[in-house]
Amino acid sequence: MQVARPTIAVLGTGGTLAGSSASATDNVGYTAAQIGIEAILAGIPGLRDLPLASEQVAQLDSKDMDFATWGRLLARCQAWLARDEVQGVVITHGTDTLEETAYFLHRMLDTAKPVVLTCAMRPATSMSPDGPQNILDALAVASAAGAQGVVAVCAGVVHDAVQVSKVHPYRLDAFASGEAGPLAYVEDGQVRPVRAWVPTAPRALDWPAGAWPRVEIVMNHAGAGGGMVRALVRDGVQGIVVAGTGNGSVAQPLLDALQEAREAGVALVRTTRCSQGPIVRHAGETLPASALSPVKARIELVLDLLRPPARPAPGR
Ligand code: SIN
Repeated sequence: MQVARPTIAVLGTGGTLAGSSASATDNVGYTAAQIGIEAILAGIPGLRDLPLASEQVAQLDSKDMDFATWGRLLARCQAWLARDEVQGVVITHGTDTLEETAYFLHRMLDTAKPVVLTCAMRPATSMSPDGPQNILDALAVASAAGAQGVVAVCAGVVHDAVQVSKVHPYRLDAFASGEAGPLAYVEDGQVRPVRAWVPTAPRALDWPAGAWPRVEIVMNHAGAGGGMVRALVRDGVQGIVVAGTGNGSVAQPLLDALQEAREAGVALVRTTRCSQGPIVRHAGETLPASALSPVKARIELVLDLLRPPARPAPGR
C-alpha cells in the first residue's frame, strides 16, 4: 500500500486473527496464521480510504513466537516509528503469547507514539469473526490524541503491556489487567481512557541477532522436587524464574536445588503463580523477587543477562 500522511503502520504476525477453518462454525479446530495482513485489511469495510501502510513481519501461531521473530518485529517497529508521517503502529498477533511480545516491546522501544497489539479469538473464516472489529478498535487507539506506550486491544478493552495477561482460553474478552484494571475502552470508534497511558520503559540495549540467554520457568506445586532444576543446570540454563506458590513460596526440595543452581552461577528470580497481585517483600528472603508475572519476569531476566539493570525492574 502507498504511504500517505499521517498514517498508521499495520504489522501482521499471524495468530487466530489470520486463521482459517474448513467450517464457518468451527472456532476451535482452525489453523492459525493462514491469511496475509493485506487481505485481512482489504476485507474490512471502510479501511480502503484510510491512510494505512501494512507489512507482513511474520506469519505464525503465537505459541511458536521466538526471540528471532521478536528481533525482526522490534526492528520493523523502530523503522516505522522513526518516520515522521507514522502516527502509530498496530500489530496483529496471536492471543497466546501477546502479553509477552507486548512486554518485550515495552522494554525495548523508545518512542512516544502508540504501539497497539490486537488479536482475535475466532478465525477470519468464522461466521462471526472478532478480528475485524478488534483491528478497527486498535486503529482508533493508535490515532487517539494522547495515546502512547505499548498496549493490547481486545473486545473493546485497552490494556497496558505491564498488566495485560490472557485469562481465558475461549471467551472473546480473553484478556485482563488484574488489580490495576484496563487503561481505556473503545466504544464505537471512540477511545475512553480510565487511567493514564503508560509510556515505554526502554532498557537501552541492542537485541542481539542470536545467542540469546537461556532462561526457563519452573513452577512450585504440591510435591515439587529439585530434579527439573538440576537437569536444566546440566543442560546449560543461564537463568531460572520460579513461579512460586502464594507469596512466592518454594518447597524445600525445589529451594535446595535452586540454591545449588545459584552456586553454579545461574541467575534466579522468584515470582508468584497467583494471577493477581505482586509478591509482598519481607526480610530474610532467600531468592530475589519480581512483581511481574512469571512469563514477563522471564523476559526481564533475559534482558538482565544481556545487560544488568541500573535500577530494579518496574512492578505490575
Ligand atoms: C495464537 O496465539 O497464534 C493462536 C491463538 C489465538 O490467536 O487466539
